[in-house]
Amino acid sequence: MEIYLFAKNLIQDAGAFIRERMTENYNIDSKSNRNDLVTDVDRETETFIYNRIGEKFKDHQIIGEEGHGFDIDDMKGVTWVVDPIDGTLNFVHQHENFAISIGIFIDGEPYAGLILDVMKGDLYHARHGEGAYINDTQLTDIKDTELKSSLVSTNSNWLVKDGIKKPFIQIVKDARSVRSYGSAALEIANVAKGTSSAALFYRLHSWDFAGGMIIVSELGGLTTTLLGEEMRILETNSILTGNKKIHSELVQYFKDDDEFIENHARFHGLD
Ligand code: IPD
Ligand code: CA
Ligand code: CA
Ligand code: CA
Repeated sequence: MEIYLFAKNLIQDAGAFIRERMTENYNIDSKSNRNDLVTDVDRETETFIYNRIGEKFKDHQIIGEEGHGFDIDDMKGVTWVVDPIDGTLNFVHQHENFAISIGIFIDGEPYAGLILDVMKGDLYHARHGEGAYINDTQLTDIKDTELKSSLVSTNSNWLVKDGIKKPFIQIVKDARSVRSYGSAALEIANVAKGTSSAALFYRLHSWDFAGGMIIVSELGGLTTTLLGEEMRILETNSILTGNKKIHSELVQYFKDDDEFIENHARFHGLD
């Protein structure tokens, strides 16, 4: 319990740090391309979280998007997987609709997941075997739904990417509707909350999905790659998370597309 309580306090403190820090000037840089942004606030928040964990738990491993733990290659002991700001583009353009995401694993097994919607103040959290909550309110198990009567979410980039786009386009046609909010962690939190039935992405890093995956699983939802394989925490993955019924329906769109399978295997090293 000590780690879980510590994590809940830490994520709230990190949220307060961001809300304060964003009222001052900060630099915005680009990373892999001109639309892949990072700010001083992303980096400083990761350092804030990293230092606080390190002061309290000297032997814990920490993986963070902005540079920590890239050399970690096993999940022995306690591993924290941290995204200090998920939805940096929303942070920069909207000043809302971004989150802090934390997944905690003990010897590779899910221990706890936390996602803080920083500006709304909603904390989604779950400890393995103890139920999932939004703030102090317990969430109810995720209900089975069919695609034709469901909202699902994805990143719209995947709808225009040659070689993989076909199943994504068919899903847009067959779903009730598709949403693209720009924070994978919050899109997975919506699945936990029941305001969306599934979230699917061609490529995410572990810091985008680790916290959400643990929360969804606590509510009876399922998270795998788009081809139904188990998620691997130390690698980039495709991801499909949702209630069990829609999950099995959606996985079939990808399994039935040979071109998708070929590109997925090549890109994600699964061949
Ligand atoms: C991004 C967001 C976005 C997702 C991207 C992620 P970041 O994370 O989660 O919704 O589609 O793939 O990289 O860079 O804002 O932490
Ligand atoms: Ca980023
Ligand atoms: Ca992210
Ligand atoms: Ca990030």
